[in-house]
Order: sequence, then C-alpha cells, then structure tokens
Amino acid sequence: MKLWGGRFRKETDSLVNDFNSSIQFDCRLYREDIEGSIAHASMLADCGIISMEDKAQIISGLSEILAEIEAGKIEFTADHEDIHMNVEALLTEKIGEAGKRLHTARSRNDQVAVDLRLYLRREIDEIMEQILDLQQALLDQAGQHGQTVMPGYTHLQRAQPISFAQHLLAYAEQLKRDVTRLQDCRKRMNVCPLGSGALAGTTYPIDRRQTAGLLGFDAPCSNSLDGVSDRDYAVELLSDLSILMMHLSRFAEEVILWCSWEFKFIELDDAYSTGSSIMPQKKNPDVAELVRGKTGRIYGHLMGLLTTMKGLPLAYNKDMQEDKEPVFDAVDTVKMCLPVFAGMIATMRVLPENMRRAAGGGFINATDCADYLTKKGMPFRDAYTTVGNLVYYCTENGKLLEELTLPELQSISPLFREDVYEALSLEACMGQRRSFGGPAPEETGRQIEKLRQFIEEHRHG
Ligand code: ARG
Repeated sequence: MKLWGGRFRKETDSLVNDFNSSIQFDCRLYREDIEGSIAHASMLADCGIISMEDKAQIISGLSEILAEIEAGKIEFTADHEDIHMNVEALLTEKIGEAGKRLHTARSRNDQVAVDLRLYLRREIDEIMEQILDLQQALLDQAGQHGQTVMPGYTHLQRAQPISFAQHLLAYAEQLKRDVTRLQDCRKRMNVCPLGSGALAGTTYPIDRRQTAGLLGFDAPCSNSLDGVSDRDYAVELLSDLSILMMHLSRFAEEVILWCSWEFKFIELDDAYSTGSSIMPQKKNPDVAELVRGKTGRIYGHLMGLLTTMKGLPLAYNKDMQEDKEPVFDAVDTVKMCLPVFAGMIATMRVLPENMRRAAGGGFINATDCADYLTKKGMPFRDAYTTVGNLVYYCTENGKLLEELTLPELQSISPLFREDVYEALSLEACMGQRRSFGGPAPEETGRQIEKLRQFIEEHRHG
C-alpha cells in the first residue's frame, strides 16, 4: 500500500503510477535525502518530539540504507513514487515503529526543496572547481604567448594588433565572472526550507535553526509558503550555467575558426580531434563543436523551467517535479564540457608564425600611424583622415603602410620622419599598448598574476 494510501479505496492505475513517479530521476538525491532526514530526526529528538531511542534507531537505519544504496544493493520502486518515500519505506521495513515517526512535522514539500538545494550546492562547488581548472589551462597558455602577436578583430575584420595571451585572458575574465556568479547563486540558495512543512509550518515545537545549521545552511528560509514554492535557485543556476555555456560556445567558435585552414592559428592535439569516415585528410574540432551545440540544450532547460514555473499558484504544485530533469541534465552537461574543454586548451599547439602573418596583412597598424601623427602635433581627427588617405593610396598601389617610402609618406604629411617605421612595427604597436588592461606584455603579465591569485582564493570554496 502507498504511504498515503489511507484515504484511498482503490489502487492507483498502473499508468498513473508510472506517470506520477519521479524515482527514475530523483533517485540521485538519495544522499541528500538521507542527510536531511538525519538532521530532521536529531532535531525532533532534541526538541522532545520523538524519543532519543527513536532518533538513534532512525539514524543507524538511515546510515545502513545509505551504505546499501552505495553498494548497489537497493532497488527502488515506482510504487513508492519518489526518493523520499522510497527511503522512508525502506527505513520502516528495517526498523519498524521508529521509522514511521520520522515524517513528524515534515512534508515531502519541504523535504524535496531541502534535498535539491543540498544537491545543487554540491554541484556548484564541483563546477566552480572545474571552471578554475579551465582558467588555469588558459593562464598556462597565456604565460607562453605574451609576445605572440595576432590580429585582434572587430566585425571579424582585422582591427588592431594584440597578443595571443591577451585574447586568452579575455576568456579567463569571462570565466571569473562565471565563478563569482555561481558563488552568488550558492549564497542565495543556501537557506533551509526544512520545517516549512507542507506549506503552513507546524504546531510542533521544532527548531528550524538547528536543522539549518546541521545541514550547513546559513539560515532557515523566512516564510514557510515561500520555502516550499521557491525554485528561484534552480532557475538562477540554469541562468548562470547558460551564461557560462554562452562563454564556452563563443570560445568554441573561435577555436573552430582558428584551426580552419583559412586561419591555422592553432592545431588541436590528436587526442582532442576526430577524423572523417570518408575524407582521409580531415581532422575535425568535434569537441569545440559539441560544446557549442550543447549550449542550446542548457538554454532550453532554462526556458523550460521558467515556463514550468510561470503560472503556478503558491504553494507546492506537482508541476514542480519537472524541475529536476532539466537541472540534472544541465549540471551533467556542464560538468562534461568543462574538463574536456580545459584539456583541449591545455594541449593545443599554437602557431605564432601564422598569427603574425595574418596580423601583417590588414593595415592593423593604421590606428598607430594616426597616433604617430597625433603625437607629432596633428589633431587626432585630422590624423585619422590623413591615414585614411594613405590606406587608400596603399590599396591602389598594392603596398602596406610600412612599405611606403619616406618621400611617399611626406607627400601626405611633412610630420612623417624616419622613426615612423619603428612606430609601425606590429611588435611596437602591440607592445606599447601599456594602458591598464591592454595587450603589452607587462599588462598581460599583471593580468595573469591577478588571475592566479583569484584561482588560489577560490579553490575549495
Ligand atoms: N516527487 C515530488 C517532487 O519532486 C516530491 C514532492 C511531492 N509532494 C507532493 N505533495 N506530492 O516534486
């Protein structure tokens, strides 16, 4: 019979039984469910609501069940609907009477909310570590390429010279925001709904602060209705993961471009590439493409859960059982993407000559040429127009700025001197961009140092 079978005189239809049950996917919450129940039982006994003897039996019974689940000895059943009732049924089977007292002053509504928070809190910690690993891989590569000149792009048109380090560090900054966003999310998630009961709290003299403390929460949530209705933390996590994946996806897109024959800025390691079943020459960036592809799936989960929640009256509604699969899949997917991405970055071979060649072709020193004239006294807007004319002259005559002779340059402006050639060298154009946050090696070195500190400070919570 069902744990809630008392009110019923008929068996549940077998289709409904399967339809209603969530054990197929919420079984992964077994650890958190047991952890929550142990805290609840301790509190009940300390508050004199159950006896110390019952508490002891409940805790040892639950600990045994935990070990049995982990040893693969337990088969859950859809007849008990979800993880909460499966565990309770197993407990009662094991210890009898005392097991039936565990659910005093509790509902599955506060139970599921506490389980999910505990579970996601743990997952956030793991994801943060993985992001830090990826950042580390970026810093290691960036550390080798402070002097590697590459074209920086806007509109995917060559724009100004930067270093490969600077480009990688831009991604490391995005990831830094992802870590701090997850930290914020964790903080807001870290309040305890246990003791909200079904929705209206309880008449028992429970101590919600105690259970919150035992489970490592900062505080009990303030309102019992909100405690069982709130899934903001799941939506917020999906939002944060969507932003993270958006970053990985943009990065993946660049990796894909960079290893095309048209760019050839990098070559992916054999261990991180795949071949074609028909074209013998192919070496494909499947890892990057899959990360880009899986991003859509995470956005989908975010939209899915937002839509599930949007029309729900307070407090609990069964619709909310639909929160789990999207967050579980999102967390699993992100946890697969991050380490493989980090491995791909750590092992890629950078091809500085190709980057340098690409940097040489597209007048990316034109701004520097205008700055040269400006520093000699010409107003910047006039210098801009003068260099625009020079670029036009160059394209008409098949030359680059640095290939113009001094008389050619001086025919456009008498301010040009021999030192212009030094000013136009790409190494100088990149290396002298020493403004805070710029691509000059001193600046990227400073960025790397800061990021190293960040990683250190954020490891292990
Ligand atoms: N399996 C349910 C869920 O995931 C647990 C809460 C059920 N509560 C209820 N009143 N039916 O949401």
